[in-house]
Amino acid sequence: MLYIEKDYPLKSLNTFGVVAKAKHYVSFDAMEDVEKVSDLLETTFAAEKRFVLGGGSNVLFTDDFDGVVIQSRIDNIISETQTDSDVLVEVGSGMEWDAFVAYCVSKNWGGVENLSHIPGVVGASPVQNIGAYGVEAKDIIQEVCLWDFEQGEVVVLKNEDCRFGYRDSIFKHEYKGKVLVLSVSYRLTRKDHTMNIGYGALKDLEQHGDALTLQHVRDHVVAIRESKLPDPEVIGNGGSFFKNPVLEKSFVDVLLVDYPDMVVYPLPDGKVKVAAGWLIDQAGWKGYKEGLVGVHDKQALVLVNYGGAKGEEVVSLSQKIIRDIQQKFGIVLEPEVIFL
Ligand code: EPU
Repeated sequence: MLYIEKDYPLKSLNTFGVVAKAKHYVSFDAMEDVEKVSDLLETTFAAEKRFVLGGGSNVLFTDDFDGVVIQSRIDNIISETQTDSDVLVEVGSGMEWDAFVAYCVSKNWGGVENLSHIPGVVGASPVQNIGAYGVEAKDIIQEVCLWDFEQGEVVVLKNEDCRFGYRDSIFKHEYKGKVLVLSVSYRLTRKDHTMNIGYGALKDLEQHGDALTLQHVRDHVVAIRESKLPDPEVIGNGGSFFKNPVLEKSFVDVLLVDYPDMVVYPLPDGKVKVAAGWLIDQAGWKGYKEGLVGVHDKQALVLVNYGGAKGEEVVSLSQKIIRDIQQKFGIVLEPEVIFL
């Protein structure tokens, strides 16, 4: 089924809760509808710019969108193929991410539990290569089925073709604006799960020893996220607003002389990832309020809309933070959130 709307309000479709509207809004809830969507974009809406919206948890509408917003509402599990040790699950791009994680954990399928409670939808998981607590979507994605607007056909991309990086993929570069994710296939374990509890905040889970279950991991991750990250239903936000910068080790070593407590993660390629939340916190921004926007008081990496803010107010605050961190540490923070 295809839904077409005009002057469509976007407030409930972005977790920042900013007020904005789309000139046109097109959504659909079955794979086979995508050809009709594509036809519409080539005819009725040919002159309009377009944006494929996922769960709206990583976008900031800075103004009304003068074009067509497209959203998949394919929100079911499409197929499950089991072998003795694994299961391959194909999931519609419009399914709530955490509903998918909860389903896997309830089935005792392993690999996705560390990614519990992340807002957004399945279709955004390869675009953003979502990650948390030592696991990234790329670790479990087998392939991505998408509609290629230029070719006018369905294309299936293997994991290695997606060019996954830290919060990065081909969908943010060559494929930007050119494709629409229809479904994502994940490979999960049915037994002998590899539990990823090496990340600092998950160390407490070691107490379970061999009795550790996927549900324990999920519950723990949910509890940490609930304690640190604001619930978008209560306070508008887009999760981490900035990426953790990846820097040359020699540069970070010099900074560590002045800031020995700086939180750093050495990467396999020799570079070093620095916790942007630590930098922003250290610079005194945590809990800062400016009109209707601010910096979350429990996690400085999260900018919040206390209600009624416009996207541009969030942008303005983010620019002040970027300038300040550059002056204090010589590091230029890059937003993780996409501005529209
Ligand atoms: N920190 C502070 N002050 C703060 C925030 C953080 O000192 O205000 C310190 C923490 O104490 C910790 C370090 O910075 O030592 C890292 O903090 P945390 O573990 O909370 O993780 P993060 O780097 O802030 C990243 C991801 C999150 C993900 C967590 C857990 C990015 C941009 N963010 O945050 O992802 O949940 O790690 O793995 O990589 C998201 O992308 O929206 C997101 C929430």
